[in-house]
Amino acid sequence: MSVLLTGGLGYIGSHTAVELLTSNEDVVIIDNLSNSDLSVKEKIKKIVEPVRKLDENSFKVYVGDVRDYKFLDQVFSENKITSVIHFAGLKAVGESVAKPLDYYDNNLISTINLLEVMRAHGVKNFVFSSSATVYGKAKSMPIYEDFETGATNPYGRTKLFIEEMLKDIYNSDKSFNFIILRYFNPIGAHDSGLIGENPNGIPNNLMPYISRVATGKLECLSIFGNDYNTKDGTGVRDYIHVVDLAKGHVCAVKKLKTNCGLKIYNLGTGIGYSVLDIVNAYNQVCGNKVKFKFVDRRPGDIDICYANADKAYKELNWKAERNLLDMCKTSYNFEKHNK
Ligand code: NAD
Ligand code: UFG
Repeated sequence: MSVLLTGGLGYIGSHTAVELLTSNEDVVIIDNLSNSDLSVKEKIKKIVEPVRKLDENSFKVYVGDVRDYKFLDQVFSENKITSVIHFAGLKAVGESVAKPLDYYDNNLISTINLLEVMRAHGVKNFVFSSSATVYGKAKSMPIYEDFETGATNPYGRTKLFIEEMLKDIYNSDKSFNFIILRYFNPIGAHDSGLIGENPNGIPNNLMPYISRVATGKLECLSIFGNDYNTKDGTGVRDYIHVVDLAKGHVCAVKKLKTNCGLKIYNLGTGIGYSVLDIVNAYNQVCGNKVKFKFVDRRPGDIDICYANADKAYKELNWKAERNLLDMCKTSYNFEKHNK
C-alpha cells in the first residue's frame, strides 16, 4: 500500500517523500523531470536509509508525465496506491502571465487525468498542493480558511479552478476524501544539505535569490519596494520551513484514513516577517554577505500575507516548529553544497 506523489522529485515533494518514508509509509513517485532531476531519488534514499532500508516495494520512481493517461493507468495497475498527493505542476507567477496556456495545460490537464485514473482504480484519497495565492489581497490579517478567494494571475487561477473542481467532484461523490493544503511561503532545506530549492536561471523568489547572493553566485538582492504599509516598508510574508510543511503532508495522509471528506487547511506559521527581517536573519547565519538595494515595487505583489494555522493544529495535530534562523541556516547549507 503506497502513497503516490506526483512531482515527488521537486522541492516540496522530495522533502515530503523523506518524511513519509521515515514514518513507514511506502512511496511511489511520478515526475517528468521538467523542474528536477533523477539524482534527487538517490538523495532521498541516502537520507532515509540510515533509518529504514528501502527496496522497490517501499520506494519507486517513475519518470513520466501526469498528463499521459495510459502511463498513469499503468502506474496505478502496477502498484497498490491508497492515497495521492498531487504536487506536480508549474508554479512561477510571472511565467504564468507570459505563458498562460502552458499553465492551464499542465496544471489542469494533469489534475483531471489523475482524478479520472483514481476513479477508475477506486482510489479515493487525495491531497492537493494549493497556495495562499488563492486569497488574493485578503481583507485583513491573519488569513483564515473561510476568507473569500480570488486569483490575480493564471497560476493562481489554476489553483482556484482545481479547488472548485475538487468541491464539485466531492459534492457528486461523497466517497472521495480531499484535503486542500494552502501553503504560505515555503523556504529552507533538509538538514542534510542534500535536497532543497534549486530553481533554474535567476530565481524569482526571495530565499533562493538571497542564498545565491550569500554564496557569491549573484551580486546583490533587489528589495522590491520599501514604501509598503508594514513595519519597515518592505513586504511581509509567512515563511514556513519546508520540513515542517512536509510533515503537514504526513498528517494529512493520516487524516485521509479517517474518511474526512473535503477539508481545507492553511499551512503557515502564523508569523509575518518582512524582507528586511529575512535579510537580517540570513546575515547572522552567513556573516553579512547579503548585499541589497531598494528598487521599485514588483507589479502584482501585495503588502502583507500571513496565516492563521489553528485549524491545522486542531484537526491535523500539526504545527510549524522551525524558526526563521533554522530556515536561513538550512538554506545556506544547501546552497553551499549545491555547486
Ligand atoms: P517544484 O517545481 O520543485 O516541483 C514540482 C515537480 O513536479 C517538479 O519536480 C516537476 O519536474 C514536476 N512536474 C511538473 N509538471 C509535471 C507533470 N505534468 N508530470 C509529472 N511531473 C511534473 O515545485 P514545488 O515548489 O515543490 O511545488 C510543489 C507544488 O506546490 C506545486 O503544485 C506548487 O504550485 C505548489 N506550491 C508551491 C509553493 C512554493 O512557493 N514552492 C507555494 C504554494 C504552492
Ligand atoms: N522579494 C524581493 N526581492 C526578490 C524576490 C522577492 O524583495 O528578489 C520580496 C517580494 O516583493 C515579497 C517577498 O520578497 O515581498 C516574497 O516574495 P516571493 O517571490 O519569495 O514570494 P511571494 O509571496 O511573492 O509568492 C510565493 C510564491 C507563490 C505563492 C505564494 C504563497 O511564489 O507562488 O508565495 O504561497 F503563491
